Order: sequence, then structure tokens, then C-alpha cells
Amino acid sequence: MELQGCTALVTGANRDLGRVFAQQLLERGARKVYATARNAELVDLPGVEALRLDITDPRSVAAAAEVAGDVTLLVNNAGVSLSQNLVDGDLDKIRLVVETHLFGTLQMIRAFAPVLSAHGGGAILNVLSNLSWMSFDGNNSYAVAKAAQWSLTNGVRLELARQGTLVSGLVFGPTETETMKAYNLDAVMNDPADIVRTALDGIAAGRIEIVADEFGAAAKASLSGEPRGFVLATTSS
Ligand SMILES: NC(=O)c1ccc[n+]([C@@H]2O[C@H](COP(=O)([O-])OP(=O)(O)OC[C@H]3O[C@@H](n4cnc5c(N)ncnc54)[C@H](OP(=O)(O)O)[C@@H]3O)[C@@H](O)[C@H]2O)c1
Repeated sequence: MELQGCTALVTGANRDLGRVFAQQLLERGARKVYATARNAELVDLPGVEALRLDITDPRSVAAAAEVAGDVTLLVNNAGVSLSQNLVDGDLDKIRLVVETHLFGTLQMIRAFAPVLSAHGGGAILNVLSNLSWMSFDGNNSYAVAKAAQWSLTNGVRLELARQGTLVSGLVFGPTETETMKAYNLDAVMNDPADIVRTALDGIAAGRIEIVADEFGAAAKASLSGEPRGFVLATTSS
């Protein structure tokens, strides 16, 4: 897909990866970038159109699709990671994680599919994770949600091929965002700018799955063997 001149909408664009997506899309010549956030006042990037959007709220999603009726690239970046295991974790938090990644992403796709169709097909990028393909003791609910989001990506790709929409999944591991810094891990993490650059190169090249780092590549390779959990190696170990 040609990024120059596209009209993009990025979810969770007030900070971290979402903010970098919005910034790099502008740098690549996007005609317009809707930088959406639950609190639109937190969007601080010059040159974007700030828009309020909570992907778990159907009315908010419908309102955004009404306002942003010219979108040709949808970046489903918004997510939550609440460190909940499955057996003894807080069930409401587990539900929120699945609600956000699975049903939030699905609601966005259902609302914006007609918009993309009306503008020639366009593209959708779903921001997945190496934990789409691996469990992670301590945050297994997030892995469940990301695995579901991966399957959603594959299914929607088949359905939207009929209208010429490219549906792509971005797979990568620990990246230095505020959320990850809060875990205070002594580990080497990706630079958000590198991940976003690789993702946008992949969209520009029309790729359906973009494995953006070694964590993603290792998780993909692991699928041909016995299921195993992700262990984050720290620099001090
Ligand atoms: N960082 C990593 O290591 C890593 C690795 C693999 C995949 N990912 C994925 O990459 C994406 C971005 O990660 P990140 O580290 O940049 O996350 P982050 O720092 O936690 O930021 C998440 C963004 O999503 C927004 N958000 C959460 N729930 C939302 C909702 N219901 N509606 C709209 N926006 C919502 C947040 O808004 P508020 O500011 O209002 O909370 C925030 O803007 C996520 O999908 C994540 O799963 C991250």
C-alpha cells in the first residue's frame, strides 16, 4: 500500500507505540492522521487530527467511523497488559484484556471495513505480539488475548480480501514503552521507532504478516515444536 497520501487512523495514539505510528505516518507523507485516544486532550503531536476513541465502547467506535469517513489505513494499536494469570487472576481484569484486544479490535474493523471499501480497499494493521504464539506465566491472559487477535487477523484477512483490503499482523516482543519500563525489567528491549519503521515498511510492501524482531521470529519458530512459555532473558542473568 502507498503510504504517501494515505489517510490513517491510529488507536491509542496518545503515547508509546501508537504515538510513534502517528508520527512516522506523518513523516512518510500521510495526507491526514487521526491520532485517537480515550482522552483526546492527551494527544500532543503537531499535525495530527486528535479524536476521542475508546475501542471497547460501541458508541465511541461508531462516532469515530462517522467523523473519520476518509480512512484508508487503520492501525489497531490500542491494548492493555494487566499481568493476570488465568487460574488465579482477577476475572474482571482478564475479561477487560480480552475485551480490548479481541472485541475492541473487531469492533474497529467492523466499523471501518465499509469506510476502507469506499476508498478502494486500503489496509488494516493489527498490532499483535510474540505472545500471540507463546504463553507467559504471570501474564497468560494477555497471551490469550493476543492469540485471539492473531486468529481474528487471519479470519478477517480472508473476509476482507473480497473488498481488496490488506489485513496485516505485526508480531514483536518487549519494546521500551512506558508500560514496559514500569515493569523495571533488566532486559534489552526494542526501540519503538524501529518496530514502527519495520511495520510501515511491511504495509508499504503489502505483507500480510510482519515479524519485526528476534522475539517474534523465535516465537514463530517455536510453533513447530512442543508448546512452551516465553522467558524474558535479563541482561544480568
Ligand atoms: N510494548 C511492548 O513490549 C509490546 C510488545 C508486543 C506487543 N505490544 C502491543 O503493542 C500495542 C501498543 O503497546 P504499548 O506498549 O505502546 O502500550 P501502552 O504503552 O500500554 O499504550 C497502550 C495504548 O492503548 C490505549 N488504550 C488502552 N485501552 C484502550 C481502549 N479501550 N480504547 C482506546 N485506547 C486504549 C492506551 O490509552 P490510555 O493512555 O488511555 O491508557 C494507550 O494509548 C499493544 O497492542 C500491545 O499489546 C507491545
